[in-house]
Amino acid sequence: MENVTILDHPLIKHKISMLRDKNTGTMFFRILVEEISMLMGYEALRDLPTELVEIETPITSAKVPMISGKKPAVVPILRAGLGMVSGITALIPTAKIGHIGLYRDEVTHEPHEYFCKLPDKINKRLVIVPDPMLATGGSAIQAVTFLKERGCKHIKFMCILAAPEGLKALSEAHPDIEIYVGCVDERLNDDAYIVPGLGDAGDRIFGTK
Ligand code: PRP
Ligand code: URA
Repeated sequence: MENVTILDHPLIKHKISMLRDKNTGTMFFRILVEEISMLMGYEALRDLPTELVEIETPITSAKVPMISGKKPAVVPILRAGLGMVSGITALIPTAKIGHIGLYRDEVTHEPHEYFCKLPDKINKRLVIVPDPMLATGGSAIQAVTFLKERGCKHIKFMCILAAPEGLKALSEAHPDIEIYVGCVDERLNDDAYIVPGLGDAGDRIFGTK
């Protein structure tokens, strides 16, 4: 899986371990998701293009590197992907933000779309798609397919936890995107939940269970 990068920095590992703990409450869970997203984003964005721009320092004029090109778009998969947005936009505050709403059917585990709003000229932007959980891969595959249908060519998918089967499915369905993962877990259970996992990411971020 050449398009997969595992971001196993000790800080990311430690914070993911805290996320997994069922005793971690909503407030701390949200903070951890934000911090992990920022640390992952720092690595995932290391190939952002730069250009030399002339500025005046207090001493002299100098040509210095600045991020170049069209502003990236962050397009979280609702709901849980929303929790990762602030960590990424802390790094690129001028990023545009879109939303793709998908929920998994509890019985079939198939993703269903219920909302989509994307920034203009999305096909010209680097698109970062955050979702904490990559389980069967169905939601991520559908979201990326949807973005490609709108002409997006440069897509980075970021997840905190992945199941091996979902990671393989996404990598094979979309070999031309970059996939960044915090940790690859053991497997899926019969309800298509990641094991050991962290439970339902959306419910834990929004306190809905
Ligand atoms: C979760 C998660 C992913 C999806 C992963 O969302 O945030 O979007 O499941 O599962 P998959 O890889 O098998 O598609 P969910 O559908 O529970 O919606 P929510 O974020 O609104 O809770
Ligand atoms: N969605 C979640 O929120 N958790 C899982 O373990 C699988 C899908």
